Amino acid sequence: MVSSIMSMTAAAQHNVQQPVIPADARIEKKVEKTLSRLTLEEKVGQMMEVVIDLIGDNNSKGVFEINERKLDSLLCNYKVGSLLNAPNTVAPTAAEWERHIAKIQKASMKHLGIPCIFGLDQNHGSTYTQGGTLFPQNINVAATFNREIARSAAEATAYETRAVSVPWSYSPTIDLGRDPRWPRIWENFGEDCLLNSVMGSEMVRGFQGDDPNHVDNRHIAVSLKHYMGYGVPFSGKDRTPAYIAPSELREKHFAPFLAGLKAGALSVMVNSASVNGLPVHANRELLTEWLKEETGWDGVLITDWADINNLYTREMVATDKKDALQMAINAGIDMIMEPYSADACPLIVELVKEGRIPQSRIDDAARRVLRMKYRLGLFDEPAQMLAKYPDFGGEKFARLALGAAEESMVLLKNENGMLPLSRGKKILLTGPNANQMRCLNGGWSYTWQGHRTDEFADRYNSIYEAMCNTFGAENVKLCQGVTYNEGGKYFEENTPDIEAAVRAAADVDVIVACIGENSYCETPGNLTDLNLSVNQRNLVKALAQLGKPIVLVLNEGRPRIIADIEPLAAAVVHTMLPGNYGGDALARLLAGDANFSGKLPYTYPKEINSLINYDYKKSQEVETMAGAYDYDAKVTVQWGFGFGKSYTTFAYSNLRVDKTEFTADDIITVSIDVQNTGKCEGMESVLLFSSDKVASLTPDCRRLRDFTKISLKPGEKQTVTFTLPATDLAFVGYDGKWILEKGEFTLQIAGEQTTVTCTATQKL
Ligand code: BGC
Repeated sequence: MVSSIMSMTAAAQHNVQQPVIPADARIEKKVEKTLSRLTLEEKVGQMMEVVIDLIGDNNSKGVFEINERKLDSLLCNYKVGSLLNAPNTVAPTAAEWERHIAKIQKASMKHLGIPCIFGLDQNHGSTYTQGGTLFPQNINVAATFNREIARSAAEATAYETRAVSVPWSYSPTIDLGRDPRWPRIWENFGEDCLLNSVMGSEMVRGFQGDDPNHVDNRHIAVSLKHYMGYGVPFSGKDRTPAYIAPSELREKHFAPFLAGLKAGALSVMVNSASVNGLPVHANRELLTEWLKEETGWDGVLITDWADINNLYTREMVATDKKDALQMAINAGIDMIMEPYSADACPLIVELVKEGRIPQSRIDDAARRVLRMKYRLGLFDEPAQMLAKYPDFGGEKFARLALGAAEESMVLLKNENGMLPLSRGKKILLTGPNANQMRCLNGGWSYTWQGHRTDEFADRYNSIYEAMCNTFGAENVKLCQGVTYNEGGKYFEENTPDIEAAVRAAADVDVIVACIGENSYCETPGNLTDLNLSVNQRNLVKALAQLGKPIVLVLNEGRPRIIADIEPLAAAVVHTMLPGNYGGDALARLLAGDANFSGKLPYTYPKEINSLINYDYKKSQEVETMAGAYDYDAKVTVQWGFGFGKSYTTFAYSNLRVDKTEFTADDIITVSIDVQNTGKCEGMESVLLFSSDKVASLTPDCRRLRDFTKISLKPGEKQTVTFTLPATDLAFVGYDGKWILEKGEFTLQIAGEQTTVTCTATQKL
């Protein structure tokens, strides 16, 4: 029977009944009081954000210093309320930040009586402060499948960011990285919407703490980004159009943002590109209706870099800057990341005077910005004292970063127990990634492109250095064979010397080939071919001729295709971008001092014409047509989403549910026994999937519904229990609305599965 009464419990899953951040009356009172004394120009100034470079100069030694005259003039002429970025886009020291921000806040309080809000891309730790901690990139955090790691890495980053008086980070990135060609795959939590929702929300809580109305001086505001659909560009290139079915937009792309808002996110940054033909910055439905009105969210919606300009220079939906400002602000933008001039301010004032932007929209935007500043306590304490943050760049966070790196690496192949490598073996370390801190970290590391990391990360160990420490320098030889052209584009390589590597391998027992990519970020990271570089593949092929065992270490920001060299390797480890402690973590794992427990957060492709996600439609995999036809549409993947091996083995048994029939209000309890059947201790991520057998919209063949990570000693057995709200099995129909349809569902954990039946269809 179909129930026509919408249950609160069921509906709450996918919709919002009350504002995602309940307003705090005392804060609202202060906001209104401040707002009421502001002129139109001052309100507009609160909506403006420019780069720090506009208020300073490089001194004779090339060191940036604030120029107080420039600062005063920006504040007096344009009343600018926000600044961003590291000077020259290079990480200053913590002491320099302390000095810069103190000056900015002093001037801001003097001229405006309102603190400035400074924002930075602290995207995998202290990106923009020398001496801070760099964690693995988010793609690695996803591979840990460990919520605690997401939260504690964000907490540590918040602490180190607030320590240098910066109260706002443009993190976490929760785009769905569903196209491996896209250069920003490594910035988010992989291809699945649940994984992005869970890890993103954990990070929101880690960054901001548990009370978004009162963010203390150990925490900072987040900016969820990039809202939304950014991760599936049709061309695979950054900042290019995406075409996404409306049902998929709501069901998959919106979900992590909704989860992040529910966790209290104080700001959101908008996708620079267009979705279904309309630039997101001009899309009132997505910005105002979905994000603000449906959820009651009262945070700040910020543009991405120069995206007002992009509306008339690249997207061609506006005739000029004024037209673009009108379009974006009326669509729901609250703050404009300009970034090199504040010229937009007088234009916005004109637009209001001409009646093209309602005064109420400006009041709303300025109110949101002021509210965020009050919530962060900036009026009471506009800047912090570094000396009060003793853990900055210390041992405590280093341990966390090492642990995170270890839990993130994925063992993809281990033929005949090739790994761990026993000590005393002679090892050749080869490949372009063997001795560079730059490739371990990727982009957003000390600089935007991460290209100067080796200058700043000298005190950390490259893979080669860590291998020497672990296996003894006398046992480890370095001959790279292929190297990157560090002064060129990220994909450029020097003329290879493969023969040298082959010669160096003559007297070793095992070859560890560290291959992959150099660092890059955003559009400069676009590529023309997802296959790993020819030189690197030739290196592996030449070494394979020696008949010695090869361990491939894939150190890359996206899954580069290696189908022709994978069969030549006895073992394959995917490190992705594990950060400053990645070398140490890898050496410990290769030596067996730590065990692998990472699992792939995306599908690793095998061929360029089979780029697919794990939740593809069944119809995408037709093997051989019956009858006279003999063609196929077989999907080939190198390794599937969720795949990852360990030095031990786990046996799953006894999958059971507390009910086999359910309706929308039910919660299904799903349990399974997991036993460590191997010889060493290990951690295992247990992943619960569902499949909707028949639905009114072609169903995804599988969907991740929950996950947890456990640790088991040899022989130990544990029961893992998931509580699955039935509404998690709903989907968004052709009409754009959530629906749970009656019929059978398969629940699956590892190789075990069972069937449950929904007995009533319900719109949610
Ligand atoms: C990127 C954002 C980043 C912003 C500020 C843009 O180019 O797309 O992810 O937060 O710059 O640095």
